[in-house]
Order: sequence, then C-alpha cells, then structure tokens
Amino acid sequence: MKQFPFLDLKLANAPIEQELKDAALKVISSGRYLRGEETQLLEQEIAQLCDTRFCVAVSNGLDALRLILRAYKELGLLRDGDAVIVPGNTFVASVLAVSDNALKPVMCDPRADTMNLDSDKALRLMERYDAKAIMPVHLYGTPCWDEQLMELARERNVLIIEDNAQAIGAKASVCGLNGTAMTGGLGHAAGISFYPTKNLGALGDAGAVTTNDEALASTVRALANYGCDRRYHNIMQGLNCRIDELQAAMLRVKLRHLADETTRRNRIALTYNQHICNPRVTTPVFFENMTQVWHQYVVRVSDRSRFMQYMADNGVGTDIHYETPAHLQPCYPALASEPLPMTETLAREVVSLPIAHPITESDAEKIAGIIYRFE
Ligand SMILES: Cc1ncc(COP(=O)(O)O)c(C=O)c1O
Repeated sequence: MKQFPFLDLKLANAPIEQELKDAALKVISSGRYLRGEETQLLEQEIAQLCDTRFCVAVSNGLDALRLILRAYKELGLLRDGDAVIVPGNTFVASVLAVSDNALKPVMCDPRADTMNLDSDKALRLMERYDAKAIMPVHLYGTPCWDEQLMELARERNVLIIEDNAQAIGAKASVCGLNGTAMTGGLGHAAGISFYPTKNLGALGDAGAVTTNDEALASTVRALANYGCDRRYHNIMQGLNCRIDELQAAMLRVKLRHLADETTRRNRIALTYNQHICNPRVTTPVFFENMTQVWHQYVVRVSDRSRFMQYMADNGVGTDIHYETPAHLQPCYPALASEPLPMTETLAREVVSLPIAHPITESDAEKIAGIIYRFE
C-alpha cells in the first residue's frame, strides 16, 4: 500500500540538501557564528518579503513575541497586568508570550469559517477588559486581518501584534496600518517562527520580529542581546535571544524557494478542496481575496479518532493542530474569562492532512479518494 507520511523533514529538505550543505560550509569556514553577514542579509530579505522597514532575527518564534511585548513595556506602551486579546485556538506559545510578560491574556473565541480571531468578539472583549493590545494569529497560513482590526489600531490606539508564525508570505484582503497587505506588516509588530516544520523552516530554532517602528526594532534588538545598546553597555536587563549565523544561512537558502513552496502548497490545498467529497468531512475555506499559504491543510471531522485511524489504516498520516487549547492546559487553570465554545469544538474536530513536500497533486487526489470511502 502506498504510504503518505504526514511530514518527513528529511524528504522535505532533500531537493535542496546540496545548497544547504554549501551554505553551512561557508559559515563554518567564515569563523563568524553570530551577528554576522548572514543574519544581516536575512533580516533585509525578510523585511522586504513582509514589506516592513525593520526585521530583527531572533532565536525562535516564542522569543520574537516575548521580545515585542517586553519592548512595548520598556517603551511604556504596556504595563504589568494590561489585557492582551489572544484567540482561543492558537498554539500555546502565543499565550505564553503574554503571560511571561506579566500581561493578562484574554482568550477570544474564533470564527468558524476562518478559524481565526473573531474581530467582533475581540472588540467586545477589548471594551470589557480595557485591553491595550490584540494578537491576531494567522493560523494555518490564513491571514487574520479586517477593517475592524484596522480601525482598532488606528482610532483606538490598540497595539496589534501579529503572530505570523505560520503565515510568512501570506497576503490579507485589506491593507494594514502601513499600506501593505503582507502578513507581518499589517499591524504594529509581528513575530515569525522558523521552526523546522514551518513553510520557511530552519534546521533548528529561529524566529524574527518585523515592524515599521524604529524604536520598537532597536529595543527588541537590544533586549535580544543582553539589553546592550553597544558592547558591554546594558541599558536594559535583557536576554540572549540571538539567531545563529548557521540558521540564518539555512533560511536564506530556503527563502529562495519559498515562493515555489507556497505555490505548491496552494495547488495541493486546491486539489484537496476540489476532490474531497464526503459529508462527514468539512474542508477549509478558500478566500479569493487573500493569499493563504497553507502551512496546514485542516479539515473538520466530528468522529475524529475513527477518521484518523481509518486514514492510518489506509497509509495516510494525519496530525492535530491543536488538540488541547491553552485554557484547558494544566499550566493555565484560570485562563478562560468567557466560554470558548468554538475553540473547544475546533479542538475536538480539526485534523491536518499531509501537504509538505513530497506530497503531490496526484497524491492529494488519491488521499481525497480514500476520504470519499470513509463511512
Ligand atoms: C501560532 C504559533 N505561535 C508561536 C509559535 C512559536 O514559535 P517557535 O516554535 O519558533 O517558538 C508557533 C510555532 O511553533 C506557532 O505555530
């Protein structure tokens, strides 16, 4: 029986293995392993892609978000205990970044169609909790941005911090504060994750902050380097959240292939949507006026464990993103201030299908055929 693994990073990276090796060797023989040319060039290239003035490459996606919030506190725009609205159905790291900074995460139930933050609900929560910031998460690669978020940012001085961990290269249907529609450039600042499984994944941990705010960028840069504004001069009690030159070099190789990777993922997602035909399986929505980058292709099935077993029996690997929402994690016993019914329904029903290389359109058709026979 043909096997369709959910994700095999060795296979996914195989087509560019030689390019990665060449770039790694170049760094090894350069003798410069931190804060060098690769990092500088990566920052320029990511800023260009996200259409922002600044990019600061850092250690991982969680640190990118932590550093943004910490920098806003250093700049006096956020204070201990301030409420930050976060979607209920996100990876726990979005919430960790908020609570780690002594801010109060206020969880907001998502919309069923986008599976992203519901901005009507976010507005109500903002008023109820006097929230000072909102963290839209572009979950699964679908941009989370609309006129309402734009207005909140513009008219009410609410900070919009995008969690762009899953959506590099995506484009919203409405332009953001700075006139671009690219995720990472929509709000005041954004955190990216380059975790190995991401569309643009390092061979280890890495992340980045993108912003048009010069003060924020320089504060993040200093915080990520022990709080130094120059060598051995600490203006803040900072951290060590730098990116390695090796990872920056790996990412620059991969960046050259990102547009092709996005096109490939789009084709697979479209093939799935056109061919999956089973009333028990709900496919994700394609939004014509945005560019979704399909970090995950996520269907909903109410009888999920039986479906996943059936898929495994037929050689198809699947995964769940995410099975337990943050407010049901043992570390957050009192996180939910409001009921989160859609968050909990999604957590029970979502299943991710294989989309990473080497899955092809013809594989996606075959997988859709297997799904058709699920009773
Ligand atoms: C939505 C979301 N936010 C934050 C993160 C944290 O990124 P990292 O794993 O690089 O710390 C991730 C990725 O894992 C993510 O998917």
